[in-house]
Amino acid sequence: MAEVKFEKVKKSFKDVMVIRELDLTIEDGEFFTFVGPSGCGKSTILNMVAGLEPLTGGRIYFDNILVNELSPKDRDVAMVFQTYALYPHMTVYENIAFPLKMKKLDAKIVDREVKRIVGILGLEEFQQRKPKELSGGQRQRVALGRAIIRKPKVFLMDEPLSNLDARLRIEMRAELKRIHQDLKITTIYVTHDQGEAMSLSDKIAVLLQGEIQQSGKPLDVYLKPANIFVGGFIGSPPMNFLTCSLQNLRPVEVNCNGLIFSPIMEDMPKKGVIMGIRPEDVSISVEPSGDSVEVSVSLVEPAGSFNWVDAQWGRVKIKGTAKVNEDLKAGSRAFMKFSVEKVTVFDAVSGKRL
Ligand SMILES: Nc1ncnc2c1ncn2[C@@H]1O[C@H](COP(=O)(O)OP(=O)(O)O)[C@@H](O)[C@H]1O
Ligand SMILES: [Mg+2]
Repeated sequence: MAEVKFEKVKKSFKDVMVIRELDLTIEDGEFFTFVGPSGCGKSTILNMVAGLEPLTGGRIYFDNILVNELSPKDRDVAMVFQTYALYPHMTVYENIAFPLKMKKLDAKIVDREVKRIVGILGLEEFQQRKPKELSGGQRQRVALGRAIIRKPKVFLMDEPLSNLDARLRIEMRAELKRIHQDLKITTIYVTHDQGEAMSLSDKIAVLLQGEIQQSGKPLDVYLKPANIFVGGFIGSPPMNFLTCSLQNLRPVEVNCNGLIFSPIMEDMPKKGVIMGIRPEDVSISVEPSGDSVEVSVSLVEPAGSFNWVDAQWGRVKIKGTAKVNEDLKAGSRAFMKFSVEKVTVFDAVSGKRL
């Protein structure tokens, strides 16, 4: 196990800067996820940690030992990719045993370890099957087993669940989390799926164009997004953004679609503000109540225990939730409200949270 430290890490391909300057410490035993849209540099970061891609600048340390010049095999990392290559002619047992056989360990020890891993991954009944006789999820589990059995210092996982169907992805998520809880090996995980990042990780870093926008515990990032990008990227469906003008400075009052709010913020806005409110914090109902405002329903999407509702509030589109017993459909008149404490306020110019 190891702590992984990035110090001013930079990466360019020819003259294209992909990673600007990465400073970050991933603690020993942590499950850390880089999450961001496609092309933001996630795989590049992982490949630099693995030693598959040289750095353009800066340093990477494992437990304060500089690894920049170490070859992949001397770094003691195990990597799991989206597309996993198993040996087709070997059984599940042989595939998982392979890394230990390469180390020329005693057959008894190998057998004991394979049995343990097969147990952890629930692959007991498939040990004698070949990869082609397995489902996608089972194959991915074998690939994980082959990585786990090496007891590496660091696990590197590049979108390992992306090829699985939705249901299996959720199942494997839970499994990955359980494996990490059992083994407590430092894990650096990469995904474009914010839900996956939120549910798996001790900490996340939200990346955009090779720069960390925010890092921290998933819930902290969700509750206090550092800027509009993070607010919109983390959470599903995405946060609503409402452009408001400054009505008054002391005390701060903003005018949003004719409604005056006194939002809670730590910094003074310079010009206008953008209020972020999550759909799960907006309630829509057929009955008016307290300070609700009138909206027109444009779409109702059942989510099981509640409905997602798209509504038009003047010129503003807003997404909220409604109880399933509310009689709402496209074209219905309805009433929307949210509590001002749930609002995140961003500076309209810089996009930063105020
Ligand atoms: N070997 C390479 N040569 C040139 N450009 C590359 C290379 N690898 C990645 N890139 C570019 O670097 C950027 C980041 O890529 P990548 O790390 O794969 O993103 P992600 O994994 O987040 O989708 C992209 O713009 C990609 O086109
Ligand atoms: Mg990638």
